[in-house]
Amino acid sequence: MRVVVTGGAGFIGANLCRRLAGTGGIDEVVAYDNLSTGSKDNLAGVDGVDLVEADICDPRALDKAFRGASTVVHLAARPSVPKSIADPVASHVANVTGTLEVLEAVRRAGRPHVIAASSSSVYGANPTLPKHEALKPSPLSPYAAMKLATETYALAWGHSYALDVLAFRFFNVFGPLQPADHAYAAVVPAFVSAALEGRPLPVHGSGEQTRDFTYVGSVAAVVTEAVLRRVSASEPVNLAFGSRTSLLELIAVLEEVLGRPLERQHGDARPGDVCDSQAEVSRLHALFPGVEPVPLVEGVRATVDWFLDQQG
Ligand SMILES: NC(=O)c1ccc[n+]([C@@H]2O[C@H](COP(=O)([O-])OP(=O)(O)OC[C@H]3O[C@@H](n4cnc5c(N)ncnc54)[C@H](O)[C@@H]3O)[C@@H](O)[C@H]2O)c1
Repeated sequence: MRVVVTGGAGFIGANLCRRLAGTGGIDEVVAYDNLSTGSKDNLAGVDGVDLVEADICDPRALDKAFRGASTVVHLAARPSVPKSIADPVASHVANVTGTLEVLEAVRRAGRPHVIAASSSSVYGANPTLPKHEALKPSPLSPYAAMKLATETYALAWGHSYALDVLAFRFFNVFGPLQPADHAYAAVVPAFVSAALEGRPLPVHGSGEQTRDFTYVGSVAAVVTEAVLRRVSASEPVNLAFGSRTSLLELIAVLEEVLGRPLERQHGDARPGDVCDSQAEVSRLHALFPGVEPVPLVEGVRATVDWFLDQQG
């Protein structure tokens, strides 16, 4: 089985490639990445992953990489709300035109299974909790609109061209390989790096806002199972586990892991930040019965260990 991961040198992609490469039944893993935010270092020391350095807007390179693939996991994107606001055309090219090119290359490649990454940001201004997939999307940023386009294109290509497609909506994913200055959902690495450097933890607003934090290992496990069983669905699927953790609770978990109290510095709330986010999980559980997340405390511990390793 040959699996191609676009964005495979990025945070989620490199964690996924590591997992796929160690999974029985998967013979070849290709990380396809233009290294715009990802890096070769993310794949250093991983056996069994070939890096193809190319852009998803390059049809020839896509055709070459997708030849013989049984699944294409499409993660490549410019995953930054601020960048999408500052330069929406560049973000559109990577996030939407790039998705279209990937889907067209999938058609030319004999229709491998497709797994595409969307985002909880598509729920945007919709205040209903938990976020179930049938809610009306209400994107608040160009990035969120583009992720809605990504999943909509992927599912429409599934219907129109008989492709097996699965569109996941990721929630706040965290874990090793996510740098502290990562532009998206960066609160966990921002807190961990501040704590390890002895700085107060930067909290936007009261810290009572909640998120459905998802450890990247749990995401990689579900996606790997989807690859192995060629799981598809005609509607988007939340990939999170229905937890609702406030930033203050997250800080308490970090204090438990580090065994010491942490100072906080509260700043202004960020404009456009949603108050609460929590996934409704019945669709995920119907497709992946028995799937269990890595508990938050274990994920935070693994993240702290990774930061400590980086510091040498
Ligand atoms: N991290 C999260 O919490 C989160 C939440 C929701 C959705 N997502 C989605 O998950 C996916 C992966 O996100 P991530 O957090 O790993 O981000 P990331 O920036 O670490 O990974 C994206 C990867 O795509 C590559 N890339 C960008 N443009 C490309 C192009 N034109 N051609 C080829 N490669 C290109 C980058 O170099 C990078 O390696 C994205 O689609 C993102 O929208 C992430």
